[in-house]
Amino acid sequence: MTEEKHSGALGQVYAAKRPEELAELYNRWAETYDSEMAVAGYRHPTICLALVARHLPRGAGPLLDAGAGTGLIGEWLAIMGYPHVEALDISEGMLAQAARKGAYAALHRLALGGPLPFADATYAGIVSAGVFTSGHVGIEGLDELIRICRPGGVLVLTVKNTLWEGGFAVGITELEARRIVSRLEETSPYVSMPGEAGTVPSRGLVLRKV
Ligand SMILES: C[S@@+](CC[C@H](N)C(=O)[O-])C[C@H]1O[C@@H](n2cnc3c(N)ncnc32)[C@H](O)[C@@H]1O
Repeated sequence: MTEEKHSGALGQVYAAKRPEELAELYNRWAETYDSEMAVAGYRHPTICLALVARHLPRGAGPLLDAGAGTGLIGEWLAIMGYPHVEALDISEGMLAQAARKGAYAALHRLALGGPLPFADATYAGIVSAGVFTSGHVGIEGLDELIRICRPGGVLVLTVKNTLWEGGFAVGITELEARRIVSRLEETSPYVSMPGEAGTVPSRGLVLRKV
């Protein structure tokens, strides 16, 4: 499996052992996250925005930004004509930054990986950028996102190679075989932060809920 080492806030969040620890680290990082990610040339939000726009018609909704962070994608989804986007994140500090962007219809402080308090088939689309990654959320977080997505709806995710090779790829193939999702698209692996040496590549994945 591919290993990854970073210093600073990034190194700490990748090494987090528990969700509460991760939330606290992101609370502390929230104010400088956007500027630091801009310096690192952070690409996940752009890739996810392109994938959403390719697979969901203008005006589709409601959408959920799962692991929305400071709301980089929410702001752009609004510009691109998706009028109702909700944010979900485990970190209060990150959600506070997202709230300041004014792009979300609702903010939910919740943890992926366990049950979510939403009805089946609530969302027309779900986007999750930079969340299925080291120290964050594994494939166990996907079941609930699939449950709350409408049949025919679309899930756009990024998945780090470390997870992909560690069971995610097999898990997606199983979900397809059980006709729970179909794979609409998978990008080539790309480095999400070209300005950060040693970043393990990730891929964008688009699933349709059957
Ligand atoms: C790398 S950031 C990505 C944020 C945003 N999607 C973006 O692309 O800028 C990862 C985000 O996932 C959130 N997160 C990590 N684990 C989570 C969990 N179990 N449930 C919900 N959010 C989680 C963190 O708080 C953080 O805001």
